[in-house]
Amino acid sequence: MKKITHKFSNSSVDYYLEAGISHLKKIVDQKNAVIVTDENVFNYHQKRFKGWNTIVLKPGEEFKVQATADTVIEQLIEMEAGRKTTLIGAGGGVITDITGYVASVYMRGIPFGFIPTTLLAMVDASIGGKNGIDIGVYKNMVGVIRQPKFILHDLIFLNTLPQNEWENGFSEIIKHACIKDAAMFRELEANSIKTYRKRKKSVCELIQRNADLKTRVVKQDEFEKGERKLLNFGHTLGHALENMYELSHGQAISIGMTYASVISEKITGFKEAERVAKLLLQYNLPTFSAFDRKKVFDVLKMDKKREKNEINYVLLDKIGKGVVKAIPLSQLENIISNL
Ligand SMILES: NC(=O)c1ccc[n+]([C@@H]2O[C@H](COP(=O)([O-])OP(=O)(O)OC[C@H]3O[C@@H](n4cnc5c(N)ncnc54)[C@H](O)[C@@H]3O)[C@@H](O)[C@H]2O)c1
Ligand SMILES: [Zn+2]
Repeated sequence: MKKITHKFSNSSVDYYLEAGISHLKKIVDQKNAVIVTDENVFNYHQKRFKGWNTIVLKPGEEFKVQATADTVIEQLIEMEAGRKTTLIGAGGGVITDITGYVASVYMRGIPFGFIPTTLLAMVDASIGGKNGIDIGVYKNMVGVIRQPKFILHDLIFLNTLPQNEWENGFSEIIKHACIKDAAMFRELEANSIKTYRKRKKSVCELIQRNADLKTRVVKQDEFEKGERKLLNFGHTLGHALENMYELSHGQAISIGMTYASVISEKITGFKEAERVAKLLLQYNLPTFSAFDRKKVFDVLKMDKKREKNEINYVLLDKIGKGVVKAIPLSQLENIISNL
C-alpha cells in the first residue's frame, strides 16, 4: 500500500493507493462510521462490508437528487450519527457526489472519505472535493466544494465492473490526455480497453497517473478561477446532452469532446479533431451524433461556466494542451446550430 498526503487550501487528503478495503479499520473507528453505497456495489461485494454500518441506495444518476440526500439524512438521524461520525462513500461518482454533499450539510458538516469503485470515480469523481446533486436536467446544479479526509483505492472492485463502465472511465482518461498529457494520449492510442484489462499493472499505473494529474490541477486552483476549468473539456455540451438523452456521463462528454475539438479547429486553429474522435471510437465511445441543436443550446446556456453573455468554453490548442476561451453566447449559438 502507498500513502500519499495531498495538501489543499484548507485541508489535506490522504490517498491510500493499492490498498485493500480491509485497511479501512485502521483509518476510521468502525463504530463511528457509516458506509453509503448502492445496491450493485453492495450485492457484488457484500462480504467486504461485513461489520460496517451501511446505507444502501438505489443505483443510477436519476437518484443523484435531493430526495435521495434526504433519505440518507433521515437514516443518519435514525442511526444517531453525530458530529464525530465519518461518512464513507463506497461506489461510483453518484455515490461519492451524494456522500460528500450530505456529509457537508449534515450537522453543518461531518468528516467523510471515499472508496471509489468505478474507474471513473477512481480517476475523476472522487478527487477534487466537488460534491453535489442534479436538479431536473441541470447537472450538479447544487453542491459544495469540500475535500474528503481520505480516498482509498482497492482495485478488487474493478473485477465486477461492467464493460460499459470501463468505457465511461476511459472517457475522462482521454479528457485528461487531451488537455494535459500528450504522452498519455499516445499510450492510449497504442492500447485498448481489452489490452488494459488484461494487464493489471498497466491499469494500476494508468489510474494513478490520472488521479495524480487531476489532483495536481485541482491543487493549483481548488476554487476554479482558472486552471481547473480545463477539466470541463467536453462537459459544457456534454452535460446538456447527458440528461436530455439518457446518455451515460462518459458517453455524453465523449460527444462533448468531439464537438469541442471541432469548435477548436474554428477558433484556436487546432488541427486534430479527427484524431481525438478516432481515439474515442477506439474506446467504444460515441462521437458525431444527431441531437436537437436548439434544445441543447437552451440547456447549455444555463451552464455554470456562463458569465453574463459569454460561456467559458474549453478548447484545445493542440493535443495535451487545453485552453479556456470566452465565447459570446450569440457566436456559440451560431456555431452549435451549424455543427
Ligand atoms: N465530483 C466530481 O468532480 C465528479 C467528476 C466526474 C464525475 N462526477 C459524477 O460522477 C457520476 C458518474 O460516475 P460513475 O460513472 O462512477 O457513476 P455511478 O456511480 O452511477 O456508477 C456507474 C454504475 O456502476 C455501478 N458500479 C459501481 N461500482 C461497481 C463495481 N465495482 N462493480 C459493478 N458495478 C459497479 C453502479 O451501481 C452504477 O450502476 C456523475 O454523476 C458525474 O456527475 C463527479
Ligand atoms: Zn466528467
